[in-house]
Order: sequence, then C-alpha cells, then structure tokens
Amino acid sequence: MHPLLPLCVFWLLPLAWMLEKDSRLAYPRRSVPYHKDNCHRFHEEGVFNYSTMLLREDVDLLLLGAREAVYALDLNDISKKLASVKWEVTQKQKYECKNKGKDPETECKNYIRILHQTADNKTYVCGTNAFDPECDYMSYADGKLTLEKKREDGKGKCPFDPFQRYASIMVENNLYSATSINFLGSEPVLMRSSPTSVRTEFKSSWLHEPNFVSMAQMPESYMSKEGDDDKVYLFFSETAVECDCYNKLVVSRVARVCKGDLGGQRTLQKKWTSFLKARIDCPGLESKLPYLIQDTYRLCDPLRQWKDCLFYAIFKPQSETSDLSAVCAYRVSDISRVFAEGKYKTSVPVETSFDKWVMYSGDVPVPRPGACIDNVARKAGITQTLDLPDRTLQFIKDRPLMDQAIQPIGGKPLLIRRGATFTRIVVNQVQAADGEQYSVMFIGTERGTILKAANHDGEMFIIEEVQLFEPPEPIKILKFSNVTGQLYAGSDYGAAQIPLATCRRSSSCMDCVLARDPYCGWDTVDRKCVFLSDSPRGLIQSVKAGDASLCPDADVKSMNLTIWPQGNQKLHCSSPSNLAKTSWERDGRPLTPSTRLQVLEDGLLILNATDSDAGWYRCLSVEHSRATMYTTTVADYWVSVDPAGSKDTRATIVEARVDGPSVGGLQAAVAFLVVSLLALLTWNFYKGHLPLPWTCTKKNVEQYPESHGQVGLDTCQEAARSAPAEDKPLVAGANNGRDNHLLEENDVPNALLPSLQYIDDESEI
Ligand SMILES: *[C@@H]1O[C@H](CO)[C@@H](O)[C@H](O)[C@H]1NC(C)=O
Ligand SMILES: *[C@@H]1O[C@H](CO)[C@@H](O)[C@H](O)[C@H]1NC(C)=O
Ligand SMILES: *[C@@H]1O[C@H](CO)[C@@H](O)[C@H](O)[C@H]1NC(C)=O
Repeated sequence: MHPLLPLCVFWLLPLAWMLEKDSRLAYPRRSVPYHKDNCHRFHEEGVFNYSTMLLREDVDLLLLGAREAVYALDLNDISKKLASVKWEVTQKQKYECKNKGKDPETECKNYIRILHQTADNKTYVCGTNAFDPECDYMSYADGKLTLEKKREDGKGKCPFDPFQRYASIMVENNLYSATSINFLGSEPVLMRSSPTSVRTEFKSSWLHEPNFVSMAQMPESYMSKEGDDDKVYLFFSETAVECDCYNKLVVSRVARVCKGDLGGQRTLQKKWTSFLKARIDCPGLESKLPYLIQDTYRLCDPLRQWKDCLFYAIFKPQSETSDLSAVCAYRVSDISRVFAEGKYKTSVPVETSFDKWVMYSGDVPVPRPGACIDNVARKAGITQTLDLPDRTLQFIKDRPLMDQAIQPIGGKPLLIRRGATFTRIVVNQVQAADGEQYSVMFIGTERGTILKAANHDGEMFIIEEVQLFEPPEPIKILKFSNVTGQLYAGSDYGAAQIPLATCRRSSSCMDCVLARDPYCGWDTVDRKCVFLSDSPRGLIQSVKAGDASLCPDADVKSMNLTIWPQGNQKLHCSSPSNLAKTSWERDGRPLTPSTRLQVLEDGLLILNATDSDAGWYRCLSVEHSRATMYTTTVADYWVSVDPAGSKDTRATIVEARVDGPSVGGLQAAVAFLVVSLLALLTWNFYKGHLPLPWTCTKKNVEQYPESHGQVGLDTCQEAARSAPAEDKPLVAGANNGRDNHLLEENDVPNALLPSLQYIDDESEI
C-alpha cells in the first residue's frame, strides 16, 4: 500500500465551464468517469445499434433489439444473456436494397425498431429489413427466443430508413406508430394498424417533414364526467406551416388522437377524425429559433388522477451555434385544455402564392371538430366517429392545428445546461427523508453520459454526471423499471444498467449531504452514505437546502511523507465536488505558490525539494451550498525531507517538468520508464494468468476518506435495492496490499491514461 491517493482516483476536469460560469445554467456537482466492468453491461461482438428495449418485468427479462438481432437478458443483471435470435436480411433483399441506391453495409440491414408486448404475452417485433420494413411475433420459452416468421408488412409501423426517427406504442393490443410509410420517406403518418387501420391525411397541414419523437397514452375515459375517450399523444417536431417567414422554421409539436376513432364515413375515411396538434414551447433560452423536442417522459403519480400527470420533455437548439439543452415539464391538463377548448388556426390565401395561418374566429361546428365521442355526442345519436357530420369532419380536415401553444409549468425550463446535447429522459419520483416527494431527472446525452438532476423551487441542481459508455457514444434509449429500481440505457455499442443512486460515491458526511441526492443519506453510526430505503435508522439528509451543519466533523487521517532532497513530490488533493474550490495551507497558514510549489487541479506539486519544504500541509475545500459555505479538510500531510530516505522513498516522479538536465530529473525519467515497463508486464501477466475480478477497491476509499469526488470505481455499481451487488466490488478490497497493486496497475491501461502523470510506488520495483 502506498500512502498517496490511489491511481483509481481520477478527476475529470470540468474545464469548459471553469472558464465561464453562467448562473442561469446548471453544472454537474460531480463527474464520474467511465469505468469498465463496474456495472452491468451488455455488448455482443460484431453487433451494433442497441437502441430498442422492452422491459418484461413479469418474467424478469429485458428484451434488447439491435442490428439484426434480439436478445433476452436478465433484467436484474443485463450482462447475463439468456437467449438471442438473429433476424438477418437475405442476400436477395440486400441486393435489391443496394440496387435502389442504398448502402449495403449500413442501410441494407435489419435494424430492430419495435418491440411491444402483445395480449398473449408474445412480443411484436419489427425491423427496417433492408428498406423493406417487416414485423413478426416472437416468443420466449424454455430459455429460447423464437421468431414465428409470420412476415407481416411493416409499412407505416416501422421506418424504412434506420436513420429516421419514429415512435410507437402498443395500447390494448393495438399498435400506434408514427413513421414514414414509403421508401422515399416522404409520406409521414401517425397510424393505428388494428382493429381497423386509421391514419393521418397526406397534407402538409397535418404533418410537414416531421421528426417523430415519442408517444404516450392517457386514460382520460377513467371516471370522466363527460364520457370522454382515452387518448394517445404524439410528440414531434416539424416544419411550421403557420410561419410567414422566408426561411424554413421547425417547431415542436404535441398531437393527440382518440382511442375509439374509426375514421369518417365519407370525409376522412380511414383517417383520424380526432387528430389535433399544437405547438409546444420551451421558452427562455438564448436563441430566437424555437428549441426542438427530443424525447419525453410521462410521469404519473399512481395515487392521483390522469390530469395530474406531467410530461417531461428535453429540447435541443435548432441552430448549430448554440449548445444549450433544456428540460421543460408540462401538465397534461394544460395540454388537454388547449385541445378541448382552444381556438383553431385556419389558413387564408393571400396575394402572394402562399397561405397565411391565422386564428379562426368563425363558427365552430357541433360536435366540436377533433373531440372524442362524448356523452353530448352520444345524446345526439352520434355513438362513433363514423356518425360524425361532414361539416365537423371537413373542418378538422382543413384545420388540425390549434392556435394556442402549450407552455411549460412555470413558463420556463426546469434545467438548462451547456454542453453535450440531451438525447433521452426518464424521471423518477422519490420520497426523501423529510417526507417530501422529489422528482429526479435522469438525462442521457450525446456523449454517453447520464445526468442526474433536480429542480428545487426553481433552483437547478445536477447531482452528478456519469459516463456510461466509452467511446462516448450517444445514449439512444433510456428506460426505467420500477420493479428492479434500475435504469437501462442503450447506445450503438452496447447497453448498460445502473441503479438510481450510488450513495457510496460520497465517503464523507459533508459530501453525502451536499450532494443533495434524495436517494442517499449519511448514517452516523456506520459512517457511510447509504441508500435511504436500505437504512433502518434516521439519516442526515438535506435535499432542499444542502445543509451539512448536522454532519459530525470529518476526521482526516494525516499521512506522513518523506522526500529526498531535490526530489519531486505530488501531494494529492482532489476536490470532492465540481462546485468546490480547494486551497492549501502550510503549517496552518495559507500557502504561497511558487515555481517550486505549484498548485494543480488535483494536488500540490513540490519540485526539487529542499529542507525548507518540510512541514504540515493541509488541503481544504470550500463548497457553497444553498444554505451556506462549508469548509472541509480533504487531505493532510506531514512532509519531511530526509536524504537517508531516498532509497526507500515514496517520492513521486512528476511529468518531466524539471528545468534543465538535473540529476533528479534524470533519476525521475529512468525510474518512470522502469515503473512503466513493470506496470505493463504486470498487466500482461495479470491479463493472461490471473483472471481475478478486479475492482478499484473499497479499501482505497476507506483509507482516504476524503478522496471521493472522483471515485472512478463505481461508475454504475451499487444495486438500488439489492445489498449483494453492493458488496461485489468490495471483495478484492479484503485482499492484501499486493493484490491491491496488481489491481490498480491493471487499471492503468484502460481508464487512467489521461491522468497517468505519475507513478507513485517504487516499492514495486
Ligand atoms: C449503428 O452503429 C454504427 C456503429 O456504431 C453506427 O456507425 C451507425 O451510425 C449506427 N446506425 C444507426 C442507424 O444508428
Ligand atoms: C401472461 O403472463 C402473465 C404473467 O406471467 C400471466 O398471468 C397471464 O395469464 C399470461 N397471459 C396469457 C394470455 O398467457
Ligand atoms: C410500477 O408502475 C406500474 C405502472 O406505472 C404500477 O402499476 C406498479 O404498481 C408499479 N410497481 C411498483 C413496484 O412500484
């Protein structure tokens, strides 16, 4: 064991925002780098595009759709593959696809795009099938996945083009889908395939170059006084027909249809009579161009009625000059009111060749165009949409767009962030120690990270950002299971499973409380940051205020260091949080940096040591929380300078920044090379012959209680509700120091290259 902070410790520099910090934006308090093998992941050699998922909580399965394959994985540990089935395109299909001008290696493959559970517990599965979409039924029995080879036409259900966005949902065994229905991708539809097929009109006032995003259903018939019908909502962006501008303008939309819609009798035959859409805004961002919706999550409290459900939506900028992303939340009741009571837009021809869209102020026919069949309609003898009068149908055929736009709760975003574009969102509601419910947002980004964020009475707070995938590929799908309490994410390169919280990333009370994570609290008896529901005791937690004043004083163990004269030494001190600032004290007074005493991001560098460098060094971190400022000791060193200590020294060789060809520098270089060589050898040896389940160990954390912020070890470990998983990475920690070294050095080639500025243990030589 060496006395310095372990190699596992690694700090992502929050560089970009260090330079320019804007108070209207949110910054992650903690950045957790990627770490191989530390959470359940799934990837199969040679298979890509893991972007479709179906959670089968009833049978503990995660069905994962990729390119030309579907996998059945253990829902509790997705690294366990239970079964798989291939669905490849034939040579003939590939040839035909190629002849139509598509790329044989990418576009002419079968991308699984739809996985939905059917009433008989099978799975409905569709794939792009070399630009010729097809659907099939799949069953899982006796540990085998089987495709029935029913070969149903997938047009209008599944996109032809694997790069095109689409949306679909299965409601009472009927598939609702939003995609292009033709090869060219020029005929977008929102369609229900059964029991009778109903779709949108091919009119630009209905759908105009749309980018479909997501769908959700809402049980609006439940205890409805008006005898209303259930609805299916669709979120998308499209070119605005209503804009009288010269340039193309894209806007975000929400549309909805009624579940009982069968189309009209003469007008709108087999077309929706209830298709209504409205603009959906997420205002208050820097650009004049509207932001574009990317994904939504429906959050419903099971104890409350549907009107209280919320839609959380993420937005990205339309212009390439901005790199802000945002989350806005909408009340379903607000959306529903605009459709039920709002004014319509109508087009009026103007002298120039285009139409102008204005608010319609004339008479509105009865029944109200676009409304579901309700009690009033039934009283008038209209029991299904086939009975609707032509006047109502003609009206809606020409005017599916509402005049009013939907505004978010509070009129502004819940979260704004600069940096990697948001791609997917899941929201979870949790009861914290104070008895209050908190909504925690989990947001996937284009750079393979998941942000965990909350908004407390208008204050945006990003608890952490976890790097899930390496290379940093976009998160293409994000799902949450309330049965396992786990999140499941997919990217082009693989899938990963993470718990809602990994509390033990905080190893001090201060850090645990200032993290303001509603899932975690500090257990003063066990002296650990633990998952709320795992603890029998009352915990210290302060989600709203970030008040750490109840925390007992942290006791940081002093470390004794001996350096040889002219040697170089790095005293490690990583800030526990991106929101904290560290500073150094020497012998109880603020330290003055010099050319030989350099303060770095993650420590203090003593170069070319002399006797005068001996003393007591302390690293403090100051973090501003909502409540107040908190100062805590992160590291504490007693440094002595001793020529005799040079043989057995712990001295560190730093990046070759020593001026001139000094003896120290030469020694340093030689030692560095030798250590590197040994590390490489050890690694190879270990790789080949010692297949230990390595981890960065808990030991490290225990020994350096304040070394948390950057705990590379647990990117996604810690089971939310299962204790065994939490113990798993700790096994190696019980080994002796020797193993520990092996583990750490093994760690080096994979994860730590960027921080490999020093090798700190010559005792290995
Ligand atoms: C599928 O994955 C490959 C490999 O990462 C990527 O290059 C390609 O763009 C992906 N295709 C789609 C349709 O997402
Ligand atoms: C589907 O599975 C559930 C739970 O496994 C079971 O209760 C139900 O009877 C099954 N339904 C059919 C039609 O097999
Ligand atoms: C999970 O969610 C479903 C639907 O939202 C609900 O019916 C079920 O009770 C929830 N299960 C748990 C364990 O919370």
